[in-house]
Amino acid sequence: MSSFEVLPLDHIGAEIVGLDPHGMTEEVKRDLYATWLDHGVLLFREAAPDPETHVKLAKVFGDLEIHPVKSLLVPGNDELIFLGGHGKNSGGARVMDGNVLIGQTYWHQDTAYTPNICKGSMLRMVKKSERFGNTIWSDTSKAYDALPKAISDRIARLETLQCYTDMPRRTWGMPGSALRHATSEEGPQSEVEVPDFPYVVHPMVTTHPENGRNALLLSPLGYLTILGMPEDEADDLFEEVVAHTLKPEFCFDHTWTEDDLVLWDNRRTLHYAEGFPVDDDRMIQRATLAGPQPTGREFEGDAARSAGA
Ligand SMILES: [Fe+2]
Repeated sequence: MSSFEVLPLDHIGAEIVGLDPHGMTEEVKRDLYATWLDHGVLLFREAAPDPETHVKLAKVFGDLEIHPVKSLLVPGNDELIFLGGHGKNSGGARVMDGNVLIGQTYWHQDTAYTPNICKGSMLRMVKKSERFGNTIWSDTSKAYDALPKAISDRIARLETLQCYTDMPRRTWGMPGSALRHATSEEGPQSEVEVPDFPYVVHPMVTTHPENGRNALLLSPLGYLTILGMPEDEADDLFEEVVAHTLKPEFCFDHTWTEDDLVLWDNRRTLHYAEGFPVDDDRMIQRATLAGPQPTGREFEGDAARSAGA
């Protein structure tokens, strides 16, 4: 019998209650892993007062990746990276619906700009922001299961063209919203050197390698087009599928408390970082599960023509 309780969250995901991170038996670890596969997103409320506890819990779900950018590593804990603050890795300010925000990142799946998305990650809130700063996840398996059959049949064998970017072509699934880079008068500019990643192709529907469920691989942040389809038709279809996936019943919108941990399965979730005000010093740390998950491939055609550019 498990030494923790599983409390389903309002729409997707589950909260783990009563777990002692420092007294986990192998059986408890197996139960936790199975619970993660069931729910896709796990919340451990105020569970990690220090980086050691964060690492210990993250390792229940797999080996951890050491990030290649050494300046991001947490001193003394190479398996964690910092996100946030106002350093040169902050990515610059953006304006979302009139709010100037640092750390705003549009809906995406991590590393979807490569042929192999990553398995998942676990965040720990170290210093929360007083305004904004929420993170939202969407369960794309649950969204897939609720798609009208005409749509699931239509996208069954379709593929999207994706690229590395920090700005979506449109606010897919959030059609009333307005998003742009901030001017230098409004906020700090990005100093991140954008690597020259090749274009990649991903299927819109994937099968989870561990639980066998179908999921949507959409990553709207880097979406360019659907291969083999006129651009307008592709955009209309993509908008319809993303809007469906972002319905509240498929989402967990988390308002953080310090020392919260949230773990997600990148193979069946999208996430959105709301960002935080430019005068805030919000800080978060991330453990990333190692092991690329083969999903797509490098694109070998004419990307400009395929994107309708
Ligand atoms: Fe992310």
